[in-house]
Amino acid sequence: MPPLTRQGTLDSLELRAARSPKPAPPPCARAGESRAGLSWQRLLLVLLLAASPLAAQTEPRPAAPNERRAVIIDTDPGTDDAMAILLALSSPELDVRAFTVVPGNVTADQALDNALRLVSLAGRCDVPVAGGARRPLAQKLITAEFVHGENGLAGIELPAPGCAADARFAPDLIIDLVHAMPGEITLVPVGPLTNIALALLKDPTIVPLVKEVVIMGGSITEGNVTAVAEANIFNDPEAAELVFQAGWKVTMVGLDVTHKTNFGRQHLERLARTHGTLNDFATEVMAFLVELAADFGADGTPMHDPLAVGVVLDPSFVRTRHMRIDVETRGEHTRGATVGNRHNAVERNEPEGDRLKMTGIDRVEPNAHVAVEVDAERFLALFIERLRNR
Ligand code: BDR
Ligand code: CA
Repeated sequence: MPPLTRQGTLDSLELRAARSPKPAPPPCARAGESRAGLSWQRLLLVLLLAASPLAAQTEPRPAAPNERRAVIIDTDPGTDDAMAILLALSSPELDVRAFTVVPGNVTADQALDNALRLVSLAGRCDVPVAGGARRPLAQKLITAEFVHGENGLAGIELPAPGCAADARFAPDLIIDLVHAMPGEITLVPVGPLTNIALALLKDPTIVPLVKEVVIMGGSITEGNVTAVAEANIFNDPEAAELVFQAGWKVTMVGLDVTHKTNFGRQHLERLARTHGTLNDFATEVMAFLVELAADFGADGTPMHDPLAVGVVLDPSFVRTRHMRIDVETRGEHTRGATVGNRHNAVERNEPEGDRLKMTGIDRVEPNAHVAVEVDAERFLALFIERLRNR
């Protein structure tokens, strides 16, 4: 039986109500209230909303496009970031215009050094690598060497970088590239959203010029830092809120799908069957992550950042729901949560005397295509295939 998620709870509440339109109220309830404290009128409204076109349905996604997609990958390497970088550089469908580096999994300096070592290993000094923010917008930097190894790359010592860092500040490089290729660039942030937010704050005119923003981050079902917050959002919630509300096309590839995309021992065996510089490095990193997951009792490790790159390569790896996402920046237990409004609607309450009175339902604009289903095995097969003998 799948774990009972918050979504599951909501769905089953609605389902129960749908199956028996007007059950007798429990004796302990006040007149007109259900056990859950909802009036029957409100439940009816919830049901109407669920059935109305306002409710978000899952959307089919287009298959892999024929044309190459120009991308900027904003990253905090990081073990799974490293896998995302190698996947991107091994995929002819992608035209990687830059790697912009953000602190998160490791410090800004370590992340830049790691990104340079990775593009050097791939022999791709033609792709600019630029350092950016040194800390989140409004809180202390939180790093995660505990998960990624002391150097962020599973403790594996790659050769010193042969490629040099681009001198430009990452948010400036993003702005320049977006203006140089209007309508063509897909931003793929797979770390905290600080650099993207700084680019937005400095030049909001980039919004209509960006093709799409495919974010690895967030979740509408569970967290991996707190009960409800995912790391990339938790590590800079103010930046994330700016990015979600900017008005561009956002696809959120969060824990809802990355936690279903587990790379396990059987995948490791397949990856280890072939050899090459990138292939062997990927095998070592994935072995580290699979072992780490096993230490915590998990059968396989989630492919967070690689899946976001995979969704750009082939959007049909996931199904999405178009809904409103707001980032919680204040909650005592919920800071950094991506709050998904599955019905794209909120209750309208208006003053009447000394109280507020519900007078209807207001629509809220959806702002994100949230990935909710994934064809994990097809993606994992692509990942292994792309690194074969590389
Ligand atoms: C995200 O957090 C980081 O640790 C990973 O690199 C990934 O981007 C997953 O929550
Ligand atoms: Ca990352």
